[in-house]
Amino acid sequence: ARVDKDGHKHFMAKEIAEQPVAIDRALKAYMTDNAEITLPEGLDFTKVERLTMVACGTAFYACMVAKYWFERIARLPVEVDVASEFRYREPPVAPNTLALFVSQSGETADTLAALRYMDGKADKIVGLVNVPESSIARESDVILPLHAGPEISVASTKAFTCQLSILLLLALRAAEQRGLPLPDGMPGDLRSLPGLIHQSLAGEKQIAASARSLAKAQDIIFLGRGQLYPLALEGALKLKELSYIHAEGYASGELKHGPIALIDEKVPVVVLAPRDELFEKTVSNMQEVMARGGKVILVTDAEGAKIAGEGTHEVIIMPQIPDALAPILYAVPAQQIAYFTAIAKGTDVDQPRNLAKSVTVE
Ligand code: G6P
Repeated sequence: ARVDKDGHKHFMAKEIAEQPVAIDRALKAYMTDNAEITLPEGLDFTKVERLTMVACGTAFYACMVAKYWFERIARLPVEVDVASEFRYREPPVAPNTLALFVSQSGETADTLAALRYMDGKADKIVGLVNVPESSIARESDVILPLHAGPEISVASTKAFTCQLSILLLLALRAAEQRGLPLPDGMPGDLRSLPGLIHQSLAGEKQIAASARSLAKAQDIIFLGRGQLYPLALEGALKLKELSYIHAEGYASGELKHGPIALIDEKVPVVVLAPRDELFEKTVSNMQEVMARGGKVILVTDAEGAKIAGEGTHEVIIMPQIPDALAPILYAVPAQQIAYFTAIAKGTDVDQPRNLAKSVTVE
């Protein structure tokens, strides 16, 4: 079937807006009405001692977030790597390793090569893919379909948030199978995601307005800590892909080990900081930026804004959300910042120069 823009100006806008529906569909595929997590047959974490996750681009950042979840919630040691490095590293594979490959297209050459490397070495090969007929799906022992629906825009949006939602369910199920208690409210709280994401989409007017000044910057820095660190990387990746502005994502705590040297009044710094247990630490990094004249755009919740909003250039207020779900919700402003900055610069949002949706050659 032909996919159209459904009244949106770009596929990317449509795919950002579709996230509540796509996530709802993905959750329903893996969770019953009584909030029981159901995984395909053959996927069992009881005897797994190590999880290796490999992907490229935005899918790799989904793996990076999932590492925090699997380690924290399921107490499972996790290795993550980009496929182009993993495949040539010839890493030794520990017994009882489960290998998980994440790919929207299921055709990324490096990810497929990494999967083939693990064939016969890992206990089980699992593919989390949006295209069930893809090469990665065909060569996996267990397929986890993403259910995001067709994604046309080169920059991945709804596939990313669906990947995150399913990876969180996997981590929760792994915890159950390993006899560990789930965080309060889980997994049922995942059901609040579509509604909260829908709510956060309304932030687009404010972001569109601030993107007009971001579009004038030459460099933009994104900061995040803990499970929001990969989101800082994703925010920077999206921004450079779409607007061609140089952007870097950093772990907040690494600021003083280099990037702080770049800070002056011309460098906007986007800080992704829900009010979680690491909030105060991120705020103190943010204050170091402000003390050097850096222009901070703080993305946080109402509580966070009350505590730390003073002196920032701008605050983008997100709905309150359970901690584990924050990386999924905060993907939305990261996407919107990139989208509207690209619009302000007049670049080709759906087909950025030099980029391909699916990289099937090395
Ligand atoms: C390309 C796309 C990205 C995507 C990456 C991995 O670089 O432009 O949006 O994240 O490939 O693609 P995959 O299909 O494996 O998720």
